[in-house]
Amino acid sequence: MSGGRYQLLFTPLRLGPVVVRNRIVFSAHLTNYAQDGRPTEQHAAYYGARAAGGAGLIITEEHSTHPTDWPYEKLIHGFHPDVVDGYRRITDLVHRHDTPIFAQINHNGGQGSGMYSRLPVWAPSAVPDPLFREVPKAVTTGEIRDIVDGYALVADHCRQGGFDGIELQCSHSSIVRGFLSPATNVRTDRYGGSLENRSRLLMEIVDAVRQAIGPDLALGVRLCGDELIEGGTTIDDAVAVAREVERRGQVDYINTSIGVATATLYMIEASMQVPPAYALWIASTLRKAVALPVVGVGRFKDPLQADRALTEGHADLIGVVRGQIADADFAAKARAGEPESIRNCLSCNQECVGRMGLNRWLGCIENPRTGREAQPLPGPRARRSVLVVGAGPAGLQAAIAAAQAGHSVDVYEAEDVPGGQVRVAATVPSRAELADLVRNQVAEAGRLGVRLHYGVRVDEALVAARAPDAVVVATGSRPDRPWWAGEADRVVDVRDVLEGRARPSGRVLVVDELGFHQATSVAELLADRGAAVEIVTPGMVVGQDLGITLDMETWWMKATAKGVVQTTDTMVSGLAPADGGGLEVTLVQHTTGSEARRTVDWVVCATPPRADDELWRALRGRPGGPVVRRAGDCVAPRRAHAAVIEGQRVGSGL
Ligand SMILES: Cc1cc2nc3c(=O)[nH]c(=O)nc-3n(C[C@H](O)[C@H](O)[C@H](O)COP(=O)(O)O)c2cc1C
Ligand code: SF4
Repeated sequence: MSGGRYQLLFTPLRLGPVVVRNRIVFSAHLTNYAQDGRPTEQHAAYYGARAAGGAGLIITEEHSTHPTDWPYEKLIHGFHPDVVDGYRRITDLVHRHDTPIFAQINHNGGQGSGMYSRLPVWAPSAVPDPLFREVPKAVTTGEIRDIVDGYALVADHCRQGGFDGIELQCSHSSIVRGFLSPATNVRTDRYGGSLENRSRLLMEIVDAVRQAIGPDLALGVRLCGDELIEGGTTIDDAVAVAREVERRGQVDYINTSIGVATATLYMIEASMQVPPAYALWIASTLRKAVALPVVGVGRFKDPLQADRALTEGHADLIGVVRGQIADADFAAKARAGEPESIRNCLSCNQECVGRMGLNRWLGCIENPRTGREAQPLPGPRARRSVLVVGAGPAGLQAAIAAAQAGHSVDVYEAEDVPGGQVRVAATVPSRAELADLVRNQVAEAGRLGVRLHYGVRVDEALVAARAPDAVVVATGSRPDRPWWAGEADRVVDVRDVLEGRARPSGRVLVVDELGFHQATSVAELLADRGAAVEIVTPGMVVGQDLGITLDMETWWMKATAKGVVQTTDTMVSGLAPADGGGLEVTLVQHTTGSEARRTVDWVVCATPPRADDELWRALRGRPGGPVVRRAGDCVAPRRAHAAVIEGQRVGSGL
């Protein structure tokens, strides 16, 4: 047995001509690091860091196989011959660590738009995708030939670029998926109808790619186990396709997935609202049906959890995608017997999936190095004493960065516990994993020798007494009572509820002006406690930004199940005591200007807070005083990713 406490995780495995040293796969994911369709140094450094961090196998993001496939601006265009140099830079860096690297190649079919290509999108049938809403061109048999040739061409570019294998994305966003699925393939020729016909394109691509890469590269097929849509493919289809793929003897492994990228995306990159290992049943079912190695994926955050899935026979390899976005050294730390030092992914989707949706490059809420691996770390500095005020995400990150720069760091926190607003947000059961951010930061700070002092409120006298060289003020924000609330009782902030200072019951109106988890979390909590909850928001939907982190669907399911009423395009314009008790809230509907009234027992405000910057104002610019910087909400109240990045910037700049 190798790898200490793990039975199978660190045992090698053969995938056709390639041997992987362990079972941890950095499975495919878009990064938006490409420029003009070409791979970049950012790619090379990013994948190189995961190879250095011990990943058993890296599978890159998809490379487009044809000019008609350009759904995302920053996709690698594998069909250009000049991608090969960029491929070499990636594979050379990864190979330095004896890690094999495969390229995922793909045509997204109708799951795209012609916005970038200015060409019609291609699909088996003229069935528009629910997200892109563009009616595709149903491909002719001549165009099917072009598609197959495109896969072969790109596979050959990958071979020339030094990749050890090719993965065909036939799962959640792919023209192959489009052909496999009765929901999107209504053809009546030899590519439509029976499963045999619907799989014909896949089999033709497999043959062509194998011919292009020869016997020395591995070939994998990623299949969707259940599209989770009306009339879509199910596990029975996936089993039949996997068996046929195996029977033809060209493919070395099967990767798995669940959902369709543009209809049930929230299940592909599930957030913390969905249980860990939620899609493992697909790998488990396929593994029973075929002898080929099978990859299981989906919310594997912990090496022990991955090892257990292997030892229980559900999969041969485990995809750990966001887990290694958050911590490039996931595998190495597990192998070294230090799993507790892994920076656990939160499945928050804020900086990885969320930034993809915004067409920005991939990052991580708790790892400021993700995406910046090519940028050199700051060199050593003259050692200074640094006093950080506040152990929320900004303060802790500033402390970590300052300690990494070689400074002597003390953090003072007024509360008895660290975490600031993140700790508060994580008190809602369905958001509990957010607390790992605090756990991870505190652990990292501890390893770097940062001293944490709790229950100490810092004032000017304390700073004068400690006489540090530098102070980082990270005192956060505080609730700001909305103008319409006046002095009324029973109008409280979300924080009052989550921290237990208020226990609203009966009829509760939640006002959502923040558009993220604050209002929905508190509504869920209060509904669970038996309150009758209505959320009003000036936005077009409650929790507008939940769509970006793929939390919108689960929110709607919960809101429906818990009877939470959602009223949109509506703002509060007044509040007064109601006849017979309670509060009468006046609402104005934006679009019509019409007024409505609600009589409720409590109002809970998810409204903009204000910066808690008094200490910073008192300390700054003192002649002969320490250098004073500030980070996080005390600069301007924002979300946790902004706090972490700002903490890092300030701490590393001292
Ligand atoms: C930002 C992001 C982009 C993704 N893009 C792809 C992709 O291009 N191809 C693919 O097959 N899967 C893609 N995926 C899905 C992942 O391979 C994986 O199935 C999913 O993230 C669940 O694994 P995890 O919980 O370990 O993150 C993507 C995932 C993320 C987070
Ligand atoms: S942003 Fe959140 S979900 Fe994405 S990798 Fe980082 S911790 Fe995980």
